[in-house]
Amino acid sequence: MLKKLALSTLVLASSVFAASEVNVYSVRHYDTDKKLFKMFEEKTGIKVNVVKAKGGALIKRLKSEGKNSPADVLITVDAGGLYKAKNADLLQSVESDYLTKNIAANLRDKDNKWFALTKRSRVALYKIGSGTEKMLSTYEDLADPKFKGKIVVRSSNNVYNQSLLAAMIEHHGVEYATKWAKGVVANMARTPKGNDRAQVKAVANGIGAVAIANTYYVGKMVNNKDVSQRDAIAKMKVFFPTFENGGTHINVSGAGVTKFSPNKANAIKFIEFLASSDAQELFAEANYEYPVLAGVKSSELVTSWGTFKEDTVSINALGENNAKAVKIFDIAGWK
Ligand SMILES: [Fe+2]
Repeated sequence: MLKKLALSTLVLASSVFAASEVNVYSVRHYDTDKKLFKMFEEKTGIKVNVVKAKGGALIKRLKSEGKNSPADVLITVDAGGLYKAKNADLLQSVESDYLTKNIAANLRDKDNKWFALTKRSRVALYKIGSGTEKMLSTYEDLADPKFKGKIVVRSSNNVYNQSLLAAMIEHHGVEYATKWAKGVVANMARTPKGNDRAQVKAVANGIGAVAIANTYYVGKMVNNKDVSQRDAIAKMKVFFPTFENGGTHINVSGAGVTKFSPNKANAIKFIEFLASSDAQELFAEANYEYPVLAGVKSSELVTSWGTFKEDTVSINALGENNAKAVKIFDIAGWK
């Protein structure tokens, strides 16, 4: 009898425990997220356990863990990662009136296996007073020889660049995109190294003239503890290139519920929370991302860089063309 009771208590305890947590595998590496997860814990009483790693590593981990994975939610910093996870059958469809009503159709998977949570654009930065802005126009134009020795951009193994090239493929096809990538390589001021912020710093310090970076890094540099980042960005200005027949390149950070999520209800609640106005405001204000929820404004700082027309290429296409983009970078010799 005692044994039976102990066992049932144990089962009860474990099910109560399971019902009060959500396990998150996240590629996002921003302090804002810690605050958001805490807000969610305080609001719901559901504990958020986070595993942080690069996208490839988390996808590999989900694959190898299979049915035994403790993960409930996968969060990536780009559309390519969401696409890869879906394609590898690592995500499941979720039914959420809130998410389908509030996240535009072009910002979520057609089977509702992932949802964009924030948008970011990939822009050009130039040194104030350099006159470079007079040269800047489209992404296509960055391959023009007039930029020889002027382009500073990170390596091609970075997914942000892969998605930019994936968009180029969608607009103009593989042949054109290959020519474009070769043109940009020929214009590089140096062999790619460092992250987006390192490119901005390089141009600020006299290497090349045009740095390619995601918008939120500009905000992070403006409000950085590190004076060298603040000094560098103070010398720089944002330019929003467009595709010839489109707008400024947009990528997304987003989330999906994993296929074998042990806490599915919590996982959905968690993603709904990240798409709520409270969370969207924090993404916008503290991490300088563009919110996906209508009615939530970008931060004042982000707005001060100017407005732009978003590109028309679908977020799904960024994932669909990812493998082609990787191949093209290789052919073009983009390190
Ligand atoms: Fe990033």
